[in-house]
Amino acid sequence: MNTADLIWLNGEFVAWEDAKVHVLTHAMHYGTGVFEGIRAYETERGTGVFRHQDHLDRLENSAKLYYMDLPFSKEQIRGATHDLIARSGFKSCYIRPLVWRGYGPMGLNPLENPVEAMVAVWEWGAYLGEEGQRNGVRARVSSYRRVSSDSLIPHAKASGQYLNSVLAKIESLKSGYEEAILLDDKGHVSEGTGENIFVIRNGVIYTPPQTAGILDGINRKTCVQIARDLGYELVERDIARAEVALADEVFLTGTACELTPLREIDDIEIGPPGPITREIQRVFDDALHGRAPQYAEWLDVVPVPSKA
Ligand SMILES: Cc1ncc(COP(=O)(O)O)c(C=O)c1O
Repeated sequence: MNTADLIWLNGEFVAWEDAKVHVLTHAMHYGTGVFEGIRAYETERGTGVFRHQDHLDRLENSAKLYYMDLPFSKEQIRGATHDLIARSGFKSCYIRPLVWRGYGPMGLNPLENPVEAMVAVWEWGAYLGEEGQRNGVRARVSSYRRVSSDSLIPHAKASGQYLNSVLAKIESLKSGYEEAILLDDKGHVSEGTGENIFVIRNGVIYTPPQTAGILDGINRKTCVQIARDLGYELVERDIARAEVALADEVFLTGTACELTPLREIDDIEIGPPGPITREIQRVFDDALHGRAPQYAEWLDVVPVPSKA
């Protein structure tokens, strides 16, 4: 992980090693934070932050669902992110904004604790490996169910909720797989530990609906649009576990993994990435890297700092 020299912390740029919080930070004890994972790509127009505004809107919504106001405006966070990227010299990078309940009263009521914010950037390669992105990864269905809206808030990208993904990820790695697919509380397919899922059968693309405990993924939305623009029928409906194993093609989407095919589930072969996956992956990759003029507005190009 090649990190930048600076981190933006509560409105100031501080040295990476000085970006510290108190050990009684509320979020460290109770998971009361919300965050985003964003990527910026090298393009012909400069470094482009992919769907920046959508990520900032989701950050605000996640905060709202946990009774927090963003301590800085989305425009301020966007500007700080541009500055960080420009000052880091990175042509492409991963961006992690975090908003959390800070040091203050201990106990479960966080409402008196300050809300703090930071943005960090670092260089980060293919999350599930370049080989995985090319040829697909192997996953198992997790013994853990995806958090459901009767106990938590699947729509919020909240720090504490990620214990669910962490357990599923560890379980999958320890049992020899690269990723886990979680079912929702009703036993329908929900998503991966940090990815949404698409299942293809007889030329039709299926993905679980908002009510299946999914995070409303920005790359999911992107691939839904790309698939429909390419003329595919795309249906949002509940998916049974067996449909993943019996699919012609399956792929995962997320900021970290981008688009990664799934080639095996529970030791049942789905097969190498198929033609529909490949076609969507190619257009998606063009969109990320600024090679798809029809999706140019998805990239928020980092302004080049003036020399003065
Ligand atoms: C649990 C979970 N589901 C889905 C996703 C995919 O979301 P996105 O495409 O916005 O990165 C992520 C990644 O942020 C995630 O953590």
